[in-house]
Amino acid sequence: MHHFHSLRTQFRAVARVLAICFVLFSPSAAQKCITHDQPNPIASQYPDLPTGTLNSTTAIIPIPLASALAIIPSKWRILEGAYRSLLPNFPAGQYPVFLYAAHDHDIQIPAFNFTLPDFSRTSFNFPFLDLLGDGYTSFTWTPSQLISADSAALAGAQGYGQVAYAASFDPPCDAYRAVPGGCGTYHKSVSTNSTSGSGHVFVELDDFQPITHGSPYTLKFYKNITNQPIFGNGALCDNMIRLFNTTLTKGVFEPRFVKGKVSANLPPMNRMQVMEGVYGLQADTPFIENTQVECATLQGYSG
Ligand SMILES: *[C@@H]1O[C@H](CO)[C@@H](O)[C@H](O)[C@H]1NC(C)=O
Ligand SMILES: *[C@@H]1O[C@H](CO)[C@@H](O)[C@H](O)[C@H]1NC(C)=O
Ligand SMILES: *[C@@H]1O[C@H](CO)[C@@H](O)[C@H](O)[C@H]1NC(C)=O
Ligand SMILES: *[C@@H]1O[C@H](CO)[C@@H](O)[C@H](O)[C@H]1NC(C)=O
Ligand SMILES: *[C@@H]1O[C@H](CO)[C@@H](O)[C@H](O)[C@H]1NC(C)=O
Repeated sequence: MHHFHSLRTQFRAVARVLAICFVLFSPSAAQKCITHDQPNPIASQYPDLPTGTLNSTTAIIPIPLASALAIIPSKWRILEGAYRSLLPNFPAGQYPVFLYAAHDHDIQIPAFNFTLPDFSRTSFNFPFLDLLGDGYTSFTWTPSQLISADSAALAGAQGYGQVAYAASFDPPCDAYRAVPGGCGTYHKSVSTNSTSGSGHVFVELDDFQPITHGSPYTLKFYKNITNQPIFGNGALCDNMIRLFNTTLTKGVFEPRFVKGKVSANLPPMNRMQVMEGVYGLQADTPFIENTQVECATLQGYSG
């Protein structure tokens, strides 16, 4: 009995050491991330187009219109009527910036045997901009992004005239992870080699808790802003079409409204520090992506 007990104790001690070593030294933990994201369900449906999945927290950050006008180059007007038609109760004199903290997964073009390794990205985005001066087509300006340091997406973002900061992510290969001992989620992106006014460029989303009611923003609003063509300097656009009608948004995967805390100094929101009670949506959707589209050809685009 005693012998058995001591063997068991020894076994436990060895197992504990192995477990620690596994975490610290396992090449699969260090080099190859295992994501929790579901596979791309639409690749075979669109074999000759780039498709993938985007698992994300989209958080809405209302800022004074005057601040928005100071940040957004004056050649692009804000289509205030467009966001007011979707959000009639949005506070007067405010503009909705949105924050994307996302993980791109299972990107492929089956017809060309093309795949792109997964990557993460985080950005502040300025929707409802009148890029073409037509008074009605909404575009989203994304001036800068934190992107996984080893990803070809860094060069991709630069191709749109965006500032792309090579970054590391926690968690490294998911959009967010659980906060230990609660229902909240966590995401942090930190630039590996660039600083802003207050140290390394970073964005942190902490303790985003699910909420069952009280979201001031509708699913329709989130679908709208995350489907506007994205631009950097205004020449080329990224026309990413997120689909909310697949298995990835059904059952246990249904999009959920959340609320939490954001800290950041990612330009152009350099001066922003800590914001509590930020509303957001967590959703994973497949997407079809038309890359490097001349923005002018998207006049009238409405999703
Ligand atoms: C999205 O990511 C979260 C965090 O990793 C994960 O729990 C969830 O299952 C993912 N959703 C899908 C549809 O893969
Ligand atoms: C794609 O890869 C498969 C398996 O490696 C190969 O049989 C096929 O010819 C490739 N197709 C193209 C278009 O390269
Ligand atoms: C950061 O470093 C990577 C390589 O280590 C480089 O490719 C990238 O351009 C750098 N980014 C910035 C913004 O300096
Ligand atoms: C989902 O929406 C897309 C775009 O509107 C459409 O092409 C596709 O047929 C829809 N899929 C299903 C399963 O309804
Ligand atoms: C977003 O909503 C505006 C205002 O209703 C509409 O004009 C626009 O076409 C919508 N865009 C997308 C991509 O859904």
